Formats: sequence, C-alpha cells, structure tokens
Amino acid sequence: MSDKIYDVPSAWAERAYVDDARYQAMYAASVEDPNTFWGEHGKRIDWFQPYTKVKNTSFDPGHVSIKWFEDGITNVAYNCIDRHLEARGDQPAIIWEGDSPDESKVITYRELSSEVNKLANILRNRGVEKGDRVTIYLPMIPEAAYAMLACARLGAIHSIVFGGFSPDSLAGRVSDCGSKVIITADEGLRGGRKVPLKANVDAAINQIGDDSVDHVIVVRRTGGKVDMVPGRDVYYDEAAEQVTDECPPAHMSAEDPLFILYTSGSTGKPKGVLHTTGGYLVYASMTHQYIFDYHDGDVYWCTADVGWVTGHSYIVYGPLANGATTLMFEGVPNYPTTSRFWEVIDKHKVTIFYTAPTAIRSLMQGGEEPVKKTSRASLRLLGSVGEPINPEAWEWYHRVVGDERCPIVDTWWQTETGGILITPLPGATRLKPGSATRPFFGVLPEVVDAEGKVLTGACEGNLVIADSWPGQMRTVYGDHERFEQTYFSTYPGKYFTGDGCRRDEDGYYWITGRVDDVINVSGHRMGTAEVESALVAHPKVSEAAVVGFPHDIKGQGIYAYVTLMDGVEPTEELRKELVGWVRREIGPIASPDLIQFAPGLPKTRSGKIMRRILRKIAEDQFESLGDTSTLADPGVVEDLINNRQNKR
Ligand code: WT7
Repeated sequence: MSDKIYDVPSAWAERAYVDDARYQAMYAASVEDPNTFWGEHGKRIDWFQPYTKVKNTSFDPGHVSIKWFEDGITNVAYNCIDRHLEARGDQPAIIWEGDSPDESKVITYRELSSEVNKLANILRNRGVEKGDRVTIYLPMIPEAAYAMLACARLGAIHSIVFGGFSPDSLAGRVSDCGSKVIITADEGLRGGRKVPLKANVDAAINQIGDDSVDHVIVVRRTGGKVDMVPGRDVYYDEAAEQVTDECPPAHMSAEDPLFILYTSGSTGKPKGVLHTTGGYLVYASMTHQYIFDYHDGDVYWCTADVGWVTGHSYIVYGPLANGATTLMFEGVPNYPTTSRFWEVIDKHKVTIFYTAPTAIRSLMQGGEEPVKKTSRASLRLLGSVGEPINPEAWEWYHRVVGDERCPIVDTWWQTETGGILITPLPGATRLKPGSATRPFFGVLPEVVDAEGKVLTGACEGNLVIADSWPGQMRTVYGDHERFEQTYFSTYPGKYFTGDGCRRDEDGYYWITGRVDDVINVSGHRMGTAEVESALVAHPKVSEAAVVGFPHDIKGQGIYAYVTLMDGVEPTEELRKELVGWVRREIGPIASPDLIQFAPGLPKTRSGKIMRRILRKIAEDQFESLGDTSTLADPGVVEDLINNRQNKR
C-alpha cells in the first residue's frame, strides 16, 4: 500500500460543486434523513407527475423490496433529450470517434432527438410496447445510444449484450428475457478487425428456435454482406425512411423497468440485473455531475463499452440526463498506435477522462513517449473504474497522463449498484493512490467479518451496504428469490457486495477484490462456474476447476485445471483447442490464460473441490495452502504443485 496523500488543489476546492465541508454536511444529511435528502435531489430530473413518496425499501430476509419515488411518473428519454432541446438543441450531445482516426461525427441534442424518435417509431411499428424486452447487440456506434433511448421512450426494457459475446451467450440472454426484437449491425469494427455481429445473431436465433425472435433490425456499419431473412430482418436505414421523427414519450412509473443487464455471479448462468426508471436516473445523473464535477462546456469521455454497466450509466444515461457532451469511442487503446487515447483527447479537447486500470497498465508498458508527444492540455480530471488500481498505475496515470495537474477519482461500484458508491469528490477528498476513499451521498458501507459482525475503526473484512440507495438493482429478472439469495442471505438485512475491503484510520475504503468465485479479468466480470461449464462441455474433458491468478496487465487472469477423459493424451494442441473452445462458447474475454492438465483435483471426502487450494497454487503460494487434512487424497496437491503452469 502506498502512504502518499494528495491534497485537494485549492483551485478545485473553490470551483468544484462540493468542497470538504460541504461533503461532510451533505453526507451527514443524506444518511440521517434519506427521505428529505433524496426528496430534494429527486427533483433534478423532470417528472410528468411529481412523487409524494421517496424511500420505501426493505432488506429484511424474505421481504426484500426496493422502491424509490414510487408514485412519480416520468420518462428517461424525455429527461435525456427533450428537456434539453430549448437551451441546448445545437450543443453536441454525442461526439463519436470511430475505430479509424479518420472517422468521427458530432450529434447535437436536436439530431439525437430526431434519431431516437425515428427508431422508437421503427420499433413501435414492429409491435414493441411498454414492458417488452429488446436485445441490443451493437458495436460502439451512435445507434447504440439511439437504441437505448428509443426503448426508454417507448417504455420497452432493453438488454444490451456486449458485442464480444458468442452466439451461445447471446442466445442465453435473448431467451432468458424473451426478447422478440434484436437490434444489431452487419459487422462491428475494432482495432481494424471485423466482428460478425449479424452472423452471430443468426446463429443465436437458430439455436433458440426460429419462432423466438420476430424482428432483427440491422445497422449498416461496414457494409459487409449478411444474410437477411425476409419478413424478419430489416436494414435500419431503410426502416427509418418509412417513419416520422415524432414519437411521444411513454408515461412511466418510477419503478417501471428501464433495462436488464446480464452479469456473472459465483454460481450458475448470468443473472439479469434489473434496473428501474426514476431512482436509477436520479442516481446516475447526480453521481455523474458531482463525481466528475461536470460543468457546461466540459467534454466528457468514458472509454467503456455500452455492453457494460459503465456504458449505461456514464456514457449514456448520466451524462445525457445532465445535458452533457459525451464522447463515444468505437475503437481500442492501441489502434492504430498506443497514442490513440491521448490523440483523441487532443482532437476533441476532452476535459474529463474515465477509463479502466487494465488500459492504463497496458499503456504503461509502452513508456511515456506515446503519451508525452501529445498535449492533453484540455484535461482537468481523470477517473478509474472496474477493478482495484495498483498505486504504481495510479501514480503513472497522475504524473504522465495528467501532468500532476488532474485529480483522479477511483470509483468503486458494480452492475448491481447502478452507479458509483465509493469515490473521491475532486474538490473535497484528499487522494490516496489505490483507495476508492469515501462513500457517496446516501451510501452506508460497513465492513463485516465472516460471521457478520460489524467491524469498527481501521479494519479488514467483507464489504456490505447497510441501506438502500436510489440506483440499486431491484431484482434478478424473473427470479426474485435468486436476488434475495445472492445479495441478502450471506449477511441477513444487508446488501453483500462480494468484495473484500480494508478501512483505514481515516475512514478510507480500500477494495481488495472479490471474495467469491467471481474473477475480474481486465475489468470484465467472469464467473468461474461459467468457464468450467464451457470446459466440461468439451467431449475430451471430464472435469474442470477455474480460479483467478494475479496478472500484470489484466489484474486477474483465468487459470483452469482440467481433468481429461480416460485415455485422452494431454497435448499442447489440446490445450490450444480448449482455449479456442471457451472463446467460442462464451467469448474472447473468457479465454483461459493457463490450462493445467490435472489427473486429479483436490477434493474433500464428500467430493467437494477445495478451490482454496487451487487458488493458492495458481498464486504460487505453496507454503500457505492451509489445512489439507480433509482431502480425500492429499497426494494430488503435490502433483498439482509439480505441474503448475508457468505464468512468466
Ligand atoms: C466489481 C463489479 C462498476 C462498473 C464496472 C465493473 C470491481 C469495480 C472498482 C474499483 C476496486 C472495483 C469490484 C466489483 N470494481 N470498480 N474502483 N476498485 N474494485 O462492474 O462488472 O459489475 O464488476 O468490479 O470487484 O465488485 P462489474
């Protein structure tokens, strides 16, 4: 741990929305009387009918129920578009930067309005109504934002599936929520390489059954040739010629669903995290404004993909609800060169930049020159999200990218939380590299021990949140019991984050990473159970156990122990085949980094795999294997250690 402290620059304390005194006062007010606090801040969005109730939430076992602003009526697209038209019609809403540096465009709020209304009409003409699910499987092009907002306008529930997921993963997500409509593109483009999105959609529908999906809307991105099924598939541009650009926003209750986003957990298939309308938008917009200290004239860039929650809350909904200018980037950090991020910052005069530690660590490897040859004079604030940022990467980000001028907000949150929960505020919080620092308004973090005892003062344990905040997920789509089981049963009455954490003597939080069977690979969440079930689906694999191991760039890598069927030879070729197999089954982000062929796995006498031991071996911590006396066959451990895979 680093013990360096960075004071708030005095110019920041003066100019930002919140200085430390104000943070203390607002935080105290928010937790002492959440109804008054959120009752006031709920007004930051426009309501067709104002709410009279604010907070109505319970974390009680068996009765978990979360409602905010429940009798208010509003519409998310109205808040992200219509209400800005008078004052900001000609202001850029989205600056789009393509995969190639030669391609970019600006979409004003007026243009955004026209595009979103047209797409809403395209969907409406195909029978999409309030409450229907629409799957979005698009690259990072403006149409992704149009699609989200068009659904919100109609009251349809979108489910975005990241473009890097396989047809199989897509199929699972389409059928779980019963989407009848998919919005996709002919092909995606990333780092100069094409991704066959439409072909993947065809394969997914083929797998679920031909009558599962009624309509596929296809954006022409590359112009690549795709199969179009008559009556089912339509090109977006052709459909847009048939509609007007006026579509009234649906009147939505605050607790009507806005979107589903699938995320990995420690067991089973991915869960459909459900977020609703009013509380989510209040929380996303408020956190965006205060944490990034967004002011008129800023150009804000979050490098995430809309396939992840960061893209939902901090590329689209939070910024647009605030009338901000948000930059959307189709490409990757190292194409055409490793200066790309910094060149884009100079090209569009970006003032606020929000990215992931894995990107910083990989760019750090190329040294300072690719950064220093750019100006970055427009930058005033940097952000980090997705995984713990190691102090070395933090310092490099601060010194090399930010020229020691820009505060860094290390923002801790999750798909489930809807928005940032623990973070510095740039005008208020002294920074410690590697710490996400303090809770945002209304957030009550607690550190508990394994038995659930609340620890006080400086301590280390598991991170729970003691009470609800407006952006919290409401349920697992179609499975409220799984919601309660996953998040509220480990420590009854509290939301369990799945993260370990340390709190220091200043009350700062240091997230230490997941304590469950979830691994965080380059900021992408992967359930070890998902990778295992992909592996055992291979005909030559009899058993598999997957754990994370520390990886210099990715944060964590995927380490798979594989037991082969009797008589199958463990070869290099088979190793490669299995990596390719998992890529195809789930997607490239799930590719195992290391596969160890293991004739036996460490099991208890009752047959339970002892993952603790596998984790230690993958981490090279052979001395601290802990108690191995309950193993059915202690001999397997030695064999595993002797044949461990080299991670270089
Ligand atoms: C998990 C949630 C939040 C959007 C992106 C990831 C880890 C996230 C931080 C941070 C340390 C972090 C946690 C969390 N995480 N941000 N600033 N410091 N860890 O969302 O895919 O739902 O993953 O990411 O382990 O539980 P997600």
